[in-house]
Amino acid sequence: MRKYGKIVVVLTVAVLVLGVLALAGCSGGSATPSATTTTPTPAANLNLVTPGTLTVGSDTTFPPFESMNGTVAEGFDVDMMNAIGKELGLKVVFQTENFDTIIASVVGHKFDVIASGMTITSDREKTINFSDPYFDSNQSIAVLKASGITTETQLYGKKIGVQSGTTGEKWATENLKPHGATIVPFKDTTGAFNALQAKSVDAVVNDLPVTAEIIKEGPTRGFVIIDSIPTGEQYGIGIAKDRPELLAAINGALAKIKADGQLKQIYDKWISTGQ
Ligand code: ARG
Repeated sequence: MRKYGKIVVVLTVAVLVLGVLALAGCSGGSATPSATTTTPTPAANLNLVTPGTLTVGSDTTFPPFESMNGTVAEGFDVDMMNAIGKELGLKVVFQTENFDTIIASVVGHKFDVIASGMTITSDREKTINFSDPYFDSNQSIAVLKASGITTETQLYGKKIGVQSGTTGEKWATENLKPHGATIVPFKDTTGAFNALQAKSVDAVVNDLPVTAEIIKEGPTRGFVIIDSIPTGEQYGIGIAKDRPELLAAINGALAKIKADGQLKQIYDKWISTGQ
């Protein structure tokens, strides 16, 4: 009996020792993760419309930057935002928006950022912040080749189609309207080019790489670029002014994808040389 008693005591001690070790192991194990969780992950504190998701507002009628392939948005801006989302550990969702109201909508937090081939302008910077620039662009004038129009001056007094709320509309208003041209705004570039094809406008002023892409995609539509206008525009990602943490996170991720060649790869995938 005594013998067995000793064994019981030894076992009890052993269990206690093991228990203490297990507890030590637990607290030691939990010390490391709790130390890392106090360091904010990039996705933390961003005040996203949907937590864990970067919701992107975009007028998806602007190839090669954003267009719909069935129900899926594709293009330069889509790939760029997906790469940025990956850097930040966020899912990326594109939401189709009207370009004309897209700034008011991001200010109202309908979505987190604008990625829509949007030019950084001082006017827009009064209302929203922009990321660092990610693409250099210019304007262009397109006509129907069959119209015989070859110079800008031939457009004085004519009808000029533009997308409403764009820098193309601004350029046409400042440079062609004073010469008697009528500026006709459309909801999107698709509408403007359909009107050009239908001859209800005489020309379309629009971002050069987009007009070049529209001509490339529809070579039989009869469009030709008669002028590229060196406006020296730069595209940026638009963000509400009360989201400075998001701006910093986006700029950090953008710098990373510029430095490691991802953005260059996206450029080469979507932009034909000469645009
Ligand atoms: N870059 C021009 C602007 O900022 C046109 C942008 C139009 N973008 C679009 N997705 N429709 O005004």
